[in-house]
Amino acid sequence: MLNGEKKIARPLRWGMVGGGRLGQVGYKHRIGALRDNTAFTLVAGAFDIDPERGKDFGVNLGVDESRCYENYQTMFAQEAEKEDGLEVVSIATPNGTHYEITKAALEAGLHVICEKPLFFTSAEGEEIKALAEEKGKIVGVTYGFSGNQLLLQMRAMIEQGKIGDIRVVELQYTHGFSSTEDADKFNDAQKWRVDPKIAGPTFVLGDLSTHTYYMSKLIMPDMKIEKLLCDRQSFISSRAPLEDNAFVMMHYENGAVGRLWTSSVNAGCMDGHRIRIVGSKASLEWWDSKPSELRYEVQGEPVQTLIRAMPYLDEQCNADERLGALHMEGLSDAWSNIYLKFAVAIDAKNRGDEETLHSLVYPDIDAGIDGIRWLENCVRSAENGSAWVDFSDQPVGSAK
Ligand code: NAI
Repeated sequence: MLNGEKKIARPLRWGMVGGGRLGQVGYKHRIGALRDNTAFTLVAGAFDIDPERGKDFGVNLGVDESRCYENYQTMFAQEAEKEDGLEVVSIATPNGTHYEITKAALEAGLHVICEKPLFFTSAEGEEIKALAEEKGKIVGVTYGFSGNQLLLQMRAMIEQGKIGDIRVVELQYTHGFSSTEDADKFNDAQKWRVDPKIAGPTFVLGDLSTHTYYMSKLIMPDMKIEKLLCDRQSFISSRAPLEDNAFVMMHYENGAVGRLWTSSVNAGCMDGHRIRIVGSKASLEWWDSKPSELRYEVQGEPVQTLIRAMPYLDEQCNADERLGALHMEGLSDAWSNIYLKFAVAIDAKNRGDEETLHSLVYPDIDAGIDGIRWLENCVRSAENGSAWVDFSDQPVGSAK
């Protein structure tokens, strides 16, 4: 169980690019990083594309005014001159900027925590991986939901054979916030999501399903996709070629089959993140709307609801517990768990502690590249008339 005591010698000096006052995801990063006060300290930021608003925002967060920068280039250059300069930066900006900011950060000697989808192409991912290795730095990816400890319970139960052989994988991440075209006109965070120059080659596949895909790999690290078929649509036609709905069918190497539904036009849906794994003996199911519960359904027996923090759960799962049973946890705590693992990974990298790095389960650069490859395969299938395509390029190593 976590109680805020330090896991690394001292908090890392942390900064942000993006995640400003009007940004959607910035606060989740700060909740995650600053929860325990023993892993990260926010010392600098280039928080906003609008420098004045960014500075004002940073000061209101308690960052020294002289370290609220007008852009990330100035921040990286000036922080590198300081004895107590930045050590790690988080990137919470629109997708099309991730690659150039990550590259600049690594070149400035910083560890990086970057939003998903990591970059536009896996070639960019491989290039950045090589640069990170050369510089001795970590690149982490904020698949925030994946910090929910019940996913580690699913992983442990599958590994222990509690559901038998996996037969069917059913994944869903949907919402209805883009059901009308108005969303694209009036919501700034939506506008760039349907512009391929900024969003990349996909909309909901990259925006939503990269989370779910990573979570499926976290839960089932041994399952490899053999081939997939992607059928994507733009129900709001102005979004084409980017999809606002997609189905992906998957065949796994062990003979299992899978289906993923991702959508931003699932009108009225408010609990859209669901993972169900069906085995030869039993099934496991988790929904984000009930983050403290895991359904365990054994064929022929009453359905069991496993509850977070209870002693009958696996120790891997309860190691990430914060509040204890009866007291609700959710997405904020999942982000805190992910950020704590980033801190432990960065500290281990700095100390050359390969054993810790190897055993730590967290979304690393391989997970980011894997997410990009997932998108590349989906787009390749969709553009070939939704044909089955081999998933042969899948790199091994993510979700260790
Ligand atoms: P947003 O459009 O709401 O916010 C972007 C923020 O970045 C704004 O504060 C903007 O001023 C700032 N910004 C843009 N360009 C900048 C630059 N060059 N330098 C400094 N600041 C800059 O976008 P949103 O929804 O917050 O998404 C940002 C990223 O986070 C995207 O890659 C998105 O896919 C990802 N995301 C991840 C989530 C998760 O659960 N991990 C949830 C929501 C978004």
